[in-house]
Amino acid sequence: MKIKKAVIPAAGLGTRFLPATKSVPKPMLPVYDKPTIQYIVEEAVSAGIEKVAIIVSPDCDVIKNHFSVNKVLEDNLLATGKKGLYEKAINTRTLCEIEYIIQPVANGLAGALLMAEDFVAGEPFAMLLGDEIYCKKDGADACLKKLCDEYILTGATQVASTEVFGDDIEKYGNFDYTEVDGRLKVHNLVEKPPINEAFSNMGSLGRAVISPSVFKYLRESIEGATTEVYLTDAYLALAHTEGLYACPFEDTRYDIGDKVGFIKANVDFALKDKKHADEVAEYIKKLAKT
Ligand code: UTP
Repeated sequence: MKIKKAVIPAAGLGTRFLPATKSVPKPMLPVYDKPTIQYIVEEAVSAGIEKVAIIVSPDCDVIKNHFSVNKVLEDNLLATGKKGLYEKAINTRTLCEIEYIIQPVANGLAGALLMAEDFVAGEPFAMLLGDEIYCKKDGADACLKKLCDEYILTGATQVASTEVFGDDIEKYGNFDYTEVDGRLKVHNLVEKPPINEAFSNMGSLGRAVISPSVFKYLRESIEGATTEVYLTDAYLALAHTEGLYACPFEDTRYDIGDKVGFIKANVDFALKDKKHADEVAEYIKKLAKT
């Protein structure tokens, strides 16, 4: 068995980043020289994913345009001999097969994922939230690869998880678990609990490999809901039936939906680019002194 499909929910309103996200969806916010969503599609491809579905809001062409042909630009770069830039431009449209699925109303992640049921067609699939970037550490498996491998070994849903400190527990899904054969088997889950109601110091994050059974639970959790519905209830139903594991990982994770996370990602990616690293480092040192 191989995990071949990935779903990237990218249809949220992005209210925490207004006004930047008024006409530009949050997953299109650039981190250094690439939109966030391109890092995410590249991460999926590196983990062996062959087909990606991006969940978009109605009338959102900007994501699709980014991964499509821009003939005027490409012709211009070729005619002016800018081969390196031409390759960067065409790379965005040759990464992998991408399908765009509209979420008519931004009613939460449960509604977003439900739109992908036909695309998934009964197979386990990877889910990558459109506002998180994961960078693999040298010598360690990438988070998404680990989730895929663990799904294949256990036959059960795997959700990326990490230790969370202090009040930050209130920003994440939180869960109760026991350790079974070195894995964290989840028994109970709660979304963004007040710190005194948390089950543990562990948070669930925006990468998962999910069983296709999730769709029936998503339908149940969304029925009659009038406010945003998260994945928590569907995950809980999976935990009580097929099983669900929290999977720790070693990647560096950036939360692009958070302004500080966005700045950290930009600084780190700038420092990774040999061309500008020294200048950026000098600037940061100068700032730190003042
Ligand atoms: P968030 O809840 O963090 O993003 O969803 P948001 O709702 O866009 O932003 P805020 O909270 O208002 O600032 C995480 C991911 O799920 C997608 C978002 O686009 C983001 O990539 N999402 C969220 C959907 O696709 N549909 C939704 O209804 C909600």
